[in-house]
Amino acid sequence: MYAIDQIGQPLLDDAYELLNDSAVSEGMDKLMFGLLKLRQLFPHNWQQFVRGSCRKHPLKKIVHESPFTHRAFHKPRGYAGDAVMMDYIYASDVTPVEEIVTLNDVYQYELATPGCASVRERLAIAANLIDRVSREVEAPRILSIACGHLREGQRSRAVQTKEIGELIAFDQDEKSLAVVESAFGNGQIRPIKGSVSELLRDKGQFQDMDLVYSLGLFDYLAQPTARRMTRIMFDMLKPGGVMLLVNFSPNLYNIGYMEAYMDWFLIYRDEFDMHQLTVDIKPKQMKKVRIFRDSYKNLVFMEIRKAKTR
Ligand SMILES: C[S@@+](CC[C@H](N)C(=O)[O-])C[C@H]1O[C@@H](n2cnc3c(N)ncnc32)[C@H](O)[C@@H]1O
Repeated sequence: MYAIDQIGQPLLDDAYELLNDSAVSEGMDKLMFGLLKLRQLFPHNWQQFVRGSCRKHPLKKIVHESPFTHRAFHKPRGYAGDAVMMDYIYASDVTPVEEIVTLNDVYQYELATPGCASVRERLAIAANLIDRVSREVEAPRILSIACGHLREGQRSRAVQTKEIGELIAFDQDEKSLAVVESAFGNGQIRPIKGSVSELLRDKGQFQDMDLVYSLGLFDYLAQPTARRMTRIMFDMLKPGGVMLLVNFSPNLYNIGYMEAYMDWFLIYRDEFDMHQLTVDIKPKQMKKVRIFRDSYKNLVFMEIRKAKTR
């Protein structure tokens, strides 16, 4: 038996017992912090522990009763983190509160984690940026890459008051774009189906944008692709235009649980890693690079303003 199992098995047993006794918050805290520690202490045996122990333990059945964990693990659209999953996180924004309170306890715990709160704040930060750019520029041209259901559009005053020239909602997932079409079908928002690989191939597809942003995509891109995407997004901007990227940081305490029970593997970046994404852009082309975190410190944002002169 590996050392990871000697510590890990009692952790899974204890968490199982607590969850069975309806001590959900205590059980989930124990599980999340414990798995995070095991992942840090035993990086070489972690994958094997996940497959050989976590996923064979009866605990799996209990945590999979959460619709959020269940969907991430089973990936009905073929990938984790689809727009429906994001709606589970935004639940208080898009679902009537009475419906949420009747849902499963593990899901309620997940909704209240700082990681999910950070994702809700990410939506507000994007909506505020859309509004800021709309105050600076009349009828701005905006591109959202990997838009999902474009929920920030429901939060943005400029979108609601139709001050946007055009907002292109770009995503690989047709079903998500159909939701965007029905939520905003007013000519202002233009859904376009496409993938990151297409953007990398056809670099000139979008140009003269006032704002280009992407939420929840860079966490899936390895560093060389993320660097190329950063450059491509920058080239889409008009002089003076703004772009926003964001990535989960390694501080997130859910990481072990996400990998073990949600089968959700992300690439985590800190401030240094984010700054490294700009290495293909000449410093003098950028008027300002601002790197900041959300108030829960789980996400690292990078906002770049393009210089007015080339
Ligand atoms: C985590 S969701 C984020 C959705 C939305 N931006 C939000 O923050 O709620 C990730 C989105 O990226 C899209 N996506 C993932 N890989 C993609 C790719 N290679 N090309 C285009 N879209 C992609 C998915 O379809 C999904 O809608």
